[in-house]
Amino acid sequence: MNQIREIDPGTPMTRYARGWHCLGLAEDFRDGKPHGINAFGGKLVVYADSQGDIHVLDGYCRHLGADLAMGTVKGDNLACAFHDWRWNGATGRCVEIPYARRVPKLARTRKYQTIEVNGQLLMWHDPEGSTPSAELTPPTIEGYDEGQWSKWAWNSMVIEGAHCREIVDNNVDMAHFFYIHYAYPTFFKNVFEGHTASQYMESKGRQDFTEHPERLWEGTKLRSEATYFGPSYMINWLHNDLGPDFTVESVLINCHYPIDQNSFMLQFGVSVQNMPGLSDEKAAKLAQSYSKIYEVGFLQDVEIWKHKTRIENPLLCEEDGALYQYRRWYEQFYVDAADVTADMTDRFELEVDTTHAYDVWQREVDENMQKRSEATTAS
Ligand code: FES
Ligand SMILES: [Fe+2]
Repeated sequence: MNQIREIDPGTPMTRYARGWHCLGLAEDFRDGKPHGINAFGGKLVVYADSQGDIHVLDGYCRHLGADLAMGTVKGDNLACAFHDWRWNGATGRCVEIPYARRVPKLARTRKYQTIEVNGQLLMWHDPEGSTPSAELTPPTIEGYDEGQWSKWAWNSMVIEGAHCREIVDNNVDMAHFFYIHYAYPTFFKNVFEGHTASQYMESKGRQDFTEHPERLWEGTKLRSEATYFGPSYMINWLHNDLGPDFTVESVLINCHYPIDQNSFMLQFGVSVQNMPGLSDEKAAKLAQSYSKIYEVGFLQDVEIWKHKTRIENPLLCEEDGALYQYRRWYEQFYVDAADVTADMTDRFELEVDTTHAYDVWQREVDENMQKRSEATTAS
């Protein structure tokens, strides 16, 4: 009866997810230069043509294999640095070889479909080579295209030593918010449906954190709705109640693309909605300071991810919620489209009962506050 639970690390993944992946802010690719990106176990090149349309091609030249990111944008094409073959981003075809009489008929490389949403560049990745249906496009943030939101405070970091599933797992993890982030949840619910997975959370700030100067959440309430649209692009709507009649509306984009099976590029951006009394400049500043706070938050996760093992059979308690169901949802992006089953996409919802955790955490915070005030009196 004294059976020891063993960890099953599973077998490493061998493929990359099907879905829209955000590569960064679109404007950052409109500087007239090619950008090399290590992603999906290989290399991509991104450039904007003379119209400002952004294209993504396989990173290596089909001629003799040079790195196209070393090339130059010439008109609408990307010219390879090695022998000046001109690759067209819209078609993937080589359209000109200045020193040659003819362009070989088969001179065509892989190009990826792109879209711009919310000022960001997204590319479609599918090992089966499909074209995405329109409903898979992540939504536009209401009012974003009309200029009602501040400039993105954008950040990116390479996470080494972890598969990107670790960050996606976070979406169902209620308890870690208390232990490694600043907040503790008072309400927590997940809903998975089709290609989306949402987290609804209400939380308040921990008042016993003294070591962090940016205690913006102290005494405030945060209502958060976060949805993954596909495997890697999350929009997190944040309603920060700073007073009874004062709510700051902000949005956090949390997205990533895999570099290889054991590292990924995490990107996140914050924007604050314009409101009366808040100048553009102030809104941008606020977005910057929110972004700093989220950066600290992500780094807390990162520290854990870097050192943890992969675990296929997590041992869960009731308050851990729907991790297994969630991983089944995530699995849909890693199988052929024909093999997606109903249990991966059927609507599933689960609210985690936070009442017990809340009581325990409140006691812990009270005790810490007590200790803090004793220490202040004593000194
Ligand atoms: S390797 Fe690119 S043109 Fe020759
Ligand atoms: Fe986290």
